Amino acid sequence: MIKVSRGCCGQEELDQVKEAFDYGYFGLAYKVNEFEQEIQKFIQTDREVICTCNGTAALHLALDAIGVSEGDEVILPSFTFVATAQAISSCGANPVFVDVDEETMLIDIEDVRRKITDRTKAIVPVHYSGAVCDMEALLKIKEEYGIRIIEDAAHAFGSVYKGKKVGSFGDIACFSFDSIKVMTCGEGGCIITNDKDAAELIRIKRLLGIDRKTMHTTDWKKRSWKYDVPVTGYRYHMSNINAAIGLAQIKKLNGFIDYRKKVAKSYNSLLSDIPEIKLPVYDIDTITNFMYVIRVKNGKREELKQYLMDHDIESGISYIPCHTFSLYKGNNHLPATEKIYEELLCLPIHPEITESDLKEVSDRIHEFFRK
Ligand SMILES: Cc1ncc(COP(=O)(O)O)c(C=O)c1O
Repeated sequence: MIKVSRGCCGQEELDQVKEAFDYGYFGLAYKVNEFEQEIQKFIQTDREVICTCNGTAALHLALDAIGVSEGDEVILPSFTFVATAQAISSCGANPVFVDVDEETMLIDIEDVRRKITDRTKAIVPVHYSGAVCDMEALLKIKEEYGIRIIEDAAHAFGSVYKGKKVGSFGDIACFSFDSIKVMTCGEGGCIITNDKDAAELIRIKRLLGIDRKTMHTTDWKKRSWKYDVPVTGYRYHMSNINAAIGLAQIKKLNGFIDYRKKVAKSYNSLLSDIPEIKLPVYDIDTITNFMYVIRVKNGKREELKQYLMDHDIESGISYIPCHTFSLYKGNNHLPATEKIYEELLCLPIHPEITESDLKEVSDRIHEFFRK
């Protein structure tokens, strides 16, 4: 089976995890600090980096820390993983779904502007597949309306926008290091922000609201068992074991990203002669290429998916639009999102896919359309 995605770990990750085992304390410990520093170096930023147990927790913490709560509205594209919407719901706020641009599949700025109300507290753009949303326009909306921008950058760890890495220029960016992301911690996430107040609160809230001055140091000699709990918090910190995996992975990340670019380019040239499919429009060279998403224009997406599966090739449909789930169903009609959902197909892409796998995928797709 050619898998649509997979995490790739080896001896380096095992060596790191062994160190974490030998240390004997697996919770919030020194490797989390080290990993946060490595993230700063990778992103080339001196902003605050706070690691979490997953990307959903990162989004929830970020929204919570800027005060999103019951009765607030938060704008997001419906075309995203349900984690984005659930992070908003977890704050008691109402997710307000907007459309995406039909070409780029990224948040539609005009629709965002149409849906801003007095209750809009934040906007959560999603950098789908690592392609970066129109951040210039979104940061302008932030200035105009005082609405916070919390980037769902789950796919975009390493993507570059106007010469800078995601996380180094926006308001608050949230990343995921889950098992199949561009780099993995097993499970994990992080928040990067230049908002020192939000960062302070996030550090406290990620560990049950426990005041960081006493509990958050990873230097055991400075730890005290006395602590205060000034705010509501969650059990959202990253573990030393997950950070250990991240420390090994981040060293490989440039290689992973370069390889994904190569794969995306190969697909572009292998599939360019099939009129029934539309290839991605984003700039492969500047982004992580977390997914490679084609659009099947002749209504045969399901048949193609099945045909590939019959030939041991897995493909994906990411994502089911959130406004169609029973939890969020209203009378919302988002034409571009609904059209994209009918057409999209994610082809296999990961660091261990081979040239011959790519040729096999391409041959089978050609064969399907020639039938
Ligand atoms: C767009 C998007 N947002 C948020 C998340 C949540 O990340 P995690 O799985 O680490 O909780 C994901 C994970 O797949 C995602 O794809």
